[in-house]
Amino acid sequence: MADLTTQFLELPLKNPLMNASGVWCSVASQLEALAESAAGAMVSKSCTLQPRDGNPEPRYRVINGERTFGSINSMGLPNEGFAYYLRYAQRHDYEQKPLFMSISGLTLDDNLTMVDSLKDAVIPALLEVNLSCPNVPGKSQIGYDFDAMDTLLAEVSSGYQRPFGVKLPPYFDMAHFDEAAEILNRYPLVAFVTCINSIGNALVIDIDSETTLIKPKDGFGGLGGDYVLPTALANVNAFYRRCPEKTIIGCGGVKSGTEAFLHLLAGATLVQIGTSLYEEGPGIFPRVLDELAAIMDDKGYKTIADFRGKLKTIA
Ligand code: FUM
Repeated sequence: MADLTTQFLELPLKNPLMNASGVWCSVASQLEALAESAAGAMVSKSCTLQPRDGNPEPRYRVINGERTFGSINSMGLPNEGFAYYLRYAQRHDYEQKPLFMSISGLTLDDNLTMVDSLKDAVIPALLEVNLSCPNVPGKSQIGYDFDAMDTLLAEVSSGYQRPFGVKLPPYFDMAHFDEAAEILNRYPLVAFVTCINSIGNALVIDIDSETTLIKPKDGFGGLGGDYVLPTALANVNAFYRRCPEKTIIGCGGVKSGTEAFLHLLAGATLVQIGTSLYEEGPGIFPRVLDELAAIMDDKGYKTIADFRGKLKTIA
């Protein structure tokens, strides 16, 4: 039977699967369920300094088409506020599995305040700074503003002084892969890069009612599921190639062992599940792990290291 154990920044993990931030991680009962689940690691909902209600409902819809499974959301960062997630992080059992704490401040100062508090808490939570929420009206994604991203990484690096990670939006142009990677590589404390957040500001329309599926932002929201898998794989592989000192976390379009395998093959060390976890609950983890192990067995791979990042291209 294939060995699914892995390592993340030298931490031993039972397996490479975890939730995507925003899914099953907004309140303590969900975080506790993830802690008890088969996932190898977990991340809390991207939080702001103060609690937020987020955008009006309906703000998440699954798209269960004949051939395509996906979702659109414009949650608007509903969360319980930084102090709530910090309290959870202070009582989390890190022997059981690593916990990432995701922050998404509405301003640079808010981000730096949260970073300072997390540093002062001296706990083993892994900091992820979300540069890519597409759903807060009037706020653009920092990951698409390279000057703002550079400033934020400089400030967080000098304030935190410990390794941390960033969650990036999808990029669609080789020049943008190059530029984003060049900025990330300026900061050795940026130890990991999560690719990708949802494909922002998509529009899904119901043909019968001729109406948008979600209410906020006139129906514009972030796309997840099958629609985003090829873009997610491209971003994982692009940053895996360009940022050899950094560890890549893959996110986007994972619903079975097949997509988990593809993310690992493209260079991801951990693989997050979003839309499918939302629909299926934490019971999805043992299913995807079994499927991943079966694929590895079929191919004769004994460990993840046998194929991780070993994507072949056509000469
Ligand atoms: O709208 C949201 O809360 C989504 C956040 C994200 O995609 O990072």
